[in-house]
Amino acid sequence: MYAVKPVIADEMTPKDWGLFFELSRVIHSERRRKSKFITEEEFRQRKTSLLKNLNFSIFLLEENGRLAGWMGYLSQIDSSNHSFGILFLSLLAAENPDQENRRIIARVIAGEMEKMKHDQFLFSSSESKMVELVREFGGVKINQKNIYCLNVANLNPEQMKTWADNPAAEHLGLKFELYEYLPEYLYPEFSQLLTDLTGDIPRENRTINPLQTPEEYQKSAIQNRESGHFMMHFLLFDQENNLVGMTNVTVPNRPKAVMLQWMTGLKEEYRGKGLARWLKAKMLASLLEKFPDSEIILTDCYAANAPMIKINLEMGFTLETEEHEYLTTAGQLHNFLQKR
Ligand SMILES: CC(C)(COP(=O)(O)OP(=O)(O)OC[C@H]1O[C@@H](n2cnc3c(N)ncnc32)[C@H](O)[C@@H]1OP(=O)(O)O)[C@@H](O)C(=O)NCCC(=O)NCCS
Repeated sequence: MYAVKPVIADEMTPKDWGLFFELSRVIHSERRRKSKFITEEEFRQRKTSLLKNLNFSIFLLEENGRLAGWMGYLSQIDSSNHSFGILFLSLLAAENPDQENRRIIARVIAGEMEKMKHDQFLFSSSESKMVELVREFGGVKINQKNIYCLNVANLNPEQMKTWADNPAAEHLGLKFELYEYLPEYLYPEFSQLLTDLTGDIPRENRTINPLQTPEEYQKSAIQNRESGHFMMHFLLFDQENNLVGMTNVTVPNRPKAVMLQWMTGLKEEYRGKGLARWLKAKMLASLLEKFPDSEIILTDCYAANAPMIKINLEMGFTLETEEHEYLTTAGQLHNFLQKR
């Protein structure tokens, strides 16, 4: 009844791409995303670039010969050099509402995951239907993540001016620099700080932290360029030109694109001085200068990250969606697959 087919970009016919595109378009509209859906050409280009440049695999799920969804894995390494998988699930909402069907689909997905030979898998979703599938094969909720949305029209320019005028930044002699993609000499320092900051994020439960490496940055830069995105890095340097803070924004190359802001962070000794507000305000001013037609910025944050949430809310971000982060171990998958 169910079949799984790997997506091998070079072997996909125009008809295969057309069906995959149509499925994703329907799922995108079901999820009522803020961003407009891309064209079929852009879709094909982005998926091909993901498969080519990152350790990303995609499988199409067929139900009685009809496309019903797709799953993806990104293979990554954590800071102790263990490999782990990040799982993505996209299934049509109308399909498979009953328990029996859910178990069958969970078996298909778990079977594919087991082949990846990872010790652990992370999965995040706001959709109860996807979360129930992951629970079916043993996944355990470890954290809650919030997605916040800022409508640029709701910004308070007076407040942004006050935030951008921070005496501590001046006193410490900090320099703020904007890069559209990083120059190669900054890859190692940036990757190290990103790894450290990711490890510092407050959260309810331990989770797996990916090890960011210069090679990983390079791969994702190539993939983002090929997908037509701008990767904007707003970096903070001390007087000796050491990187001490960052905030980053990915901007799709199209009018009124929904921008994605990620990882605002400071080295520990620079925290507690109002510098994240300063960094965010400077970032916004530069961003709106470069992309004046911007309307919407999205950002995500663990629900346990009190300082970041406070800053986001003060700035005018509002809570858009609550996502649940699940961890599944190879042992849980194995036990589930052993059951009749
Ligand atoms: C998030 C981060 C950038 C904030 O840096 P910062 O500018 O030094 O922020 P502060 O520590 O001054 O905290 C901001 C506000 O939250 C408040 N706050 C801090 N901890 C809090 C807590 N546990 N509960 C409630 N409020 C808290 C602070 O009092 C401050 O408000 P105030 O200025 O009105 O007093 C920094 O903590 C960091 O680099 N963390 C690690 C990386 C990270 O988590 N990044 C976010 C990823 S989404």
